[in-house]
Amino acid sequence: MPKQKDKKELSWGINDIIYQVYPRSFQDTTGNGIGDLQGVISRLDYLEKVLRVNAIWLSPIYKSPMKDFGYDISDYYQVDPIFGNMKIFNQFVKEAHSRNIKILMDFVPNHTSDQHKWFIESRSAKKNPKRNWYIWHKPKPDGSPPNNWLSRFGGSAWQFDEKTGEYYMHSFLPCQPDLNWRNPEVRKEMNKILRFWLDKKVDGFRLDAVYHIIKDAKFRDNPINPRYIPGHDDPYRQFLNVYDRGRPETLDILNQFCDTVGEYKNKFLVSEVFYKTKISEIKKYYKLCQKGQHSPFNFNFIRLPWSAWAYRNFLDNYKENLSEGDWPNFVLGNHDRPRVASRLESRKKARLVAMLQLTLKGMPFIYYGEEIGMSDVPIKPSQQKDPWGKNVSGFDLGRDSHRTPMQWSTKKYAGFSKTKPWLPVARNYLIFNVKKELADNKSILNLYNNLINFRKKSEAITDGIYYSLDIRTKDIFAYVRETTKEKILIILNFASKRKKLSLPFSQAELVCNTYLTKKSGQKINLNKLYLRPFEGYVLKLKK
Ligand code: BGC
Repeated sequence: MPKQKDKKELSWGINDIIYQVYPRSFQDTTGNGIGDLQGVISRLDYLEKVLRVNAIWLSPIYKSPMKDFGYDISDYYQVDPIFGNMKIFNQFVKEAHSRNIKILMDFVPNHTSDQHKWFIESRSAKKNPKRNWYIWHKPKPDGSPPNNWLSRFGGSAWQFDEKTGEYYMHSFLPCQPDLNWRNPEVRKEMNKILRFWLDKKVDGFRLDAVYHIIKDAKFRDNPINPRYIPGHDDPYRQFLNVYDRGRPETLDILNQFCDTVGEYKNKFLVSEVFYKTKISEIKKYYKLCQKGQHSPFNFNFIRLPWSAWAYRNFLDNYKENLSEGDWPNFVLGNHDRPRVASRLESRKKARLVAMLQLTLKGMPFIYYGEEIGMSDVPIKPSQQKDPWGKNVSGFDLGRDSHRTPMQWSTKKYAGFSKTKPWLPVARNYLIFNVKKELADNKSILNLYNNLINFRKKSEAITDGIYYSLDIRTKDIFAYVRETTKEKILIILNFASKRKKLSLPFSQAELVCNTYLTKKSGQKINLNKLYLRPFEGYVLKLKK
């Protein structure tokens, strides 16, 4: 039989909902306690029908020694056997596409694994043709590292290599050597890899750690951080990362990625191009692609202090700075950050920010499990897997607690696996799991479902303008999304107390409240509205 071709060409939209799957923790089908691609396929129905996502961002599935759980790649052209094989990957793309779900591959351009054949060659001799594919430097006269750059995961960013008597650079683990992006051969090869996956019909890439990609050509020392408090702050913070990351040449490299994906139709790139940067500084990164679209991740929701003013101020400013054609995005969490329900120390607050995220114009990124209110799981030292947490102890940097198995049901191991999973399952999985929450009409999953269903059909939410309202009541953030035909009011109470509100609008009709205690369609009197602690409302106003 001739192979059936995946002919579907899916296009991207500014409001697409992107769901991050961390494949190790999503669904195990082989019974080894680690999730796999077949597992993701088996859950596509959920993603299509319950969450109605438009795309999956798949954390790395390439061949890897898994020292950084896939972010250390030893072969960019292969699927790691832990996750499956190329045949299963092809099936995954086909099945996702048949459900109108696009695939965003995680691409790790900054570094490879030290087991990658390029690095094995590179370290074999100074004269090896691959030597210059990585960043090598001779020691200082006293034998110490070439400069004061530090590794994100602890210690110096330089590792001495006995065989050739030089240091190589690693922004992360010593077994993750950084590629030399000043070398045109590296650029060429990495862009070739993008084409390989684009030919497999993936719809775009999430570009990992791009802010590290290019370093100062003169290898200058980073300046001392005057605010660093020894013993209190992560030692990585002792220097300001002026020369080892966020260099201006980053823009050229991103441009090249854009050109490559621009050879194909309907592709999207989202990049970790900055870490802590003002919107005014990163707005240029939205402008990159001539064909296709690029957005830098917007991590601001993860960093904002909990106040109605801070959120309003950020959003007004974000809107001000972006222009027509820029695609905003909103991230509440990912595999590197504490889960939103834990970070905010409240599921009520998590519901409130979900309401915010899903009623704005732009792409919401949902980290697996956020939609069921998963929280960080305490990890005992003996259970620790993440190398960051292990290397730099005492600063709570480990990421295992937010990478625990997806909670599907009340079955043993939460329906994730038949065997003991690689990380412990949350103790609260009997309460917070997909099956139970689907049956509970007040669950957080049903809140997501309600908001997403409304978002998909509301013209004001997809297309309308945004403006915030001057509400005199402290702790309330209210904004309107409006088109000529539809006007939607969103009111969010950031206070831990009940708040009374009086707004100069006539009666409104309820879409939903975050507690899901009120009936959709019910009339709401805006002259006298009581909001419960951390309660939010989506309301339809008369036009
Ligand atoms: C990824 C991390 C990873 C690091 C090194 C980050 O930006 O999100 O999970 O450990 O890059 O690849």
